[in-house]
Amino acid sequence: MNKPFSIALDGPSGAGKSSVAKRVAMELGFLYVDTGALYRAIGYEVLKRGGKPNDQAFVEDMLPDINIELKHIDSSQRVFVNNEDVTELIRTPEVSMAASAVSAIPAVRRFLFELQRETARKNNVIMDGRDIGTVVLPDADLKVFLTASAEERARRRYDELIQKGIETSYEDVLADMKKRDYDDSHRETAPLKAADDAIFVDTTGHTLEQSVITIKKLIEDMINPERHGS
Ligand code: DC
Repeated sequence: MNKPFSIALDGPSGAGKSSVAKRVAMELGFLYVDTGALYRAIGYEVLKRGGKPNDQAFVEDMLPDINIELKHIDSSQRVFVNNEDVTELIRTPEVSMAASAVSAIPAVRRFLFELQRETARKNNVIMDGRDIGTVVLPDADLKVFLTASAEERARRRYDELIQKGIETSYEDVLADMKKRDYDDSHRETAPLKAADDAIFVDTTGHTLEQSVITIKKLIEDMINPERHGS
């Protein structure tokens, strides 16, 4: 088999990475890998064990005890921690903040690195995260940095949470979003940063449909360069 294709999709929370990547992956037959779910799974487990996500010693001690698995079932990703399916449990605002805190711990990033690499070695992937183009898959065939204004990202995240029945206010979501943006891009290890060779796509004011078309075209042009511009 030829070397699989890998697409790195990085950007801040709420830029639309997961919605766009899921759709594009389905339409092109790629595997969609949501790496944020891995950090969320660790954040969830720390909270469950009564620890503080920024307590580095606690988190590091916990890592050898946990086994994280990604399973792809009917083109949707499910995340397991020690055989517990945590896919839905990791989507709360509390776990979002915990995920951001544990993601700043270098041992956590090292712990998850090989799982991400291994998945990309075996499959054609669209992998979404913060450091995919810079650290995890520096040789990705295509790197996209997806972004949108903080207000628009907060609005999308707020709508999503309300739809899931999670009570919150737009102001709280915007404040959390700005804090996570700051923390994610100022941490020492693998900060959120576009790779030098990433293509910027700003989705402010774009529908999901428009973003999907833009990303699909970038991928198709990469796979079939002779059809470029058609
Ligand atoms: O994409 P998300 O909102 O599910 O990510 C949750 C947190 O995990 C986010 O605050 C940053 C962190 N993260 C990371 O540091 N590196 C990744 N590749 C993916 C997510």
